[in-house]
Amino acid sequence: MASTQAQILVASNRGPVSYAQDETGTLTAKRGGGGLVSGLSAIGPEAGALWVCSALGDGDREAVRRGVGEEGVRMLDIPADVHEDAYNGIANSVLWFMSHMLYQTPLEPAFGAEFRRQWASFETYNRAFAEALAEEAAQGASVLVQDYHLTLAPRMLRELRPDLRIGHFSHTPWAPPEYFRLLPDDIAAQLLGGILGADRAAFLTQRWADAFTDCCHAVLGPGIPSGTRIGVHGLGADADFLRKRSHEADVDERMVSLREQIGEGRKAIVRVDRTELSKNIVRGLLAFRQLLEDQPSWRERVVHVALAYPSRQDLAVYRDYMTEVQRLADEINSQYGTPGWTPVVLHLKDDFARSLAAYRLADVALVNPIRDGMNLVAKEVPVVSDAGCALVLSREAGAYEELGEDAIVVNPYDVSGTARALHEALSMPLDERAERTKRLAAAATALPPAQWFLDQLEALRAAA
Ligand code: G6P
Repeated sequence: MASTQAQILVASNRGPVSYAQDETGTLTAKRGGGGLVSGLSAIGPEAGALWVCSALGDGDREAVRRGVGEEGVRMLDIPADVHEDAYNGIANSVLWFMSHMLYQTPLEPAFGAEFRRQWASFETYNRAFAEALAEEAAQGASVLVQDYHLTLAPRMLRELRPDLRIGHFSHTPWAPPEYFRLLPDDIAAQLLGGILGADRAAFLTQRWADAFTDCCHAVLGPGIPSGTRIGVHGLGADADFLRKRSHEADVDERMVSLREQIGEGRKAIVRVDRTELSKNIVRGLLAFRQLLEDQPSWRERVVHVALAYPSRQDLAVYRDYMTEVQRLADEINSQYGTPGWTPVVLHLKDDFARSLAAYRLADVALVNPIRDGMNLVAKEVPVVSDAGCALVLSREAGAYEELGEDAIVVNPYDVSGTARALHEALSMPLDERAERTKRLAAAATALPPAQWFLDQLEALRAAA
């Protein structure tokens, strides 16, 4: 039983801290970043907030067993096989593919017995969260449930604790009804009904909020039956943190070595992503190759710096995508490279200091996702950029709604169009680039993480 009862609770699959265990059995904690972590820090420890999350690896599980942990964080040791089905099976193979419209019919999807078995685990996993939250929450507390992993938890929690104020926040896009209804009808209804168990369902842009409402009408009939309020909070970049962090010594060091790899006087087209199908890294490389083909004057004068960090490597489809990124980068390098020029500089090892260094020196940032809830890279680059950076941005990223005017906008499937956009971005006069970057940075920081978080809390109190 919990020793204290929390007034504000956050629930998410991935928590703010993770543990690694070395050969001697020593556990080391590693703090994560991201909007939620800085958002939650805005309310301060005295608010009595609690973050409920999953134990994700052996280190985390060992920490739970030993009772090691941070104040304000409760990790749930959900059985590994249940977590595997819920996280890899349903969340990252079905729900992620659904919201980012990544299925390649006619082969996928096929919802059969294996799916039903994994779905049962997804329910168990969501119930574990609902029960932990019900146990930890003070009377009338506010609970902010995060993302597609926890779509069922709001309804389950509502049934256990009708007194709570419950919000759900989707960090992903939401699919339009024609696509969403690929899901079996009962599953579609359960997902929507799960979120509608909340007092408030919030999204990163109006477009995703509208798609959610459209799906409710298509699947459940007209009207939002539970009276759940719908909200939009467009998470912005954390300017104070980024400006400070991007001038620390390790970032300066990475700038020197990146500059060496690019070569003096050459322009850099930079991208930074988790290596994951929705990010569209492969079409970005194809567009870069086409640029070199169509505009030979750029050969030897530009380098594509692709920082493609590993993500969800337990799943073959994500691993295969990473392999394809590597293969294509090598192919372009052997096709076009010369003794003094490597056209694609690809880094696969996660390194935040290197990402910031790349942001600082980028001439062009390429952000071309197939679909993306927001895309914070598009918002971080203009804040950190040293001399201004042209932004090539997919119209399918949530960030497009706020940054579209000063970006060069592309259809992410249009490889030739993206190649033309890269040429235009590389050719942009430096003073125009600097002007646009200023405006982009202002738009990107309109709603910093702390305010984003406080706004949600306040809206939830008003809605409940
Ligand atoms: C997206 C999701 C987050 C998730 C993150 C990293 O941004 O919206 O919920 O934490 O990807 O993915 P991972 O599977 O590594 O947690």
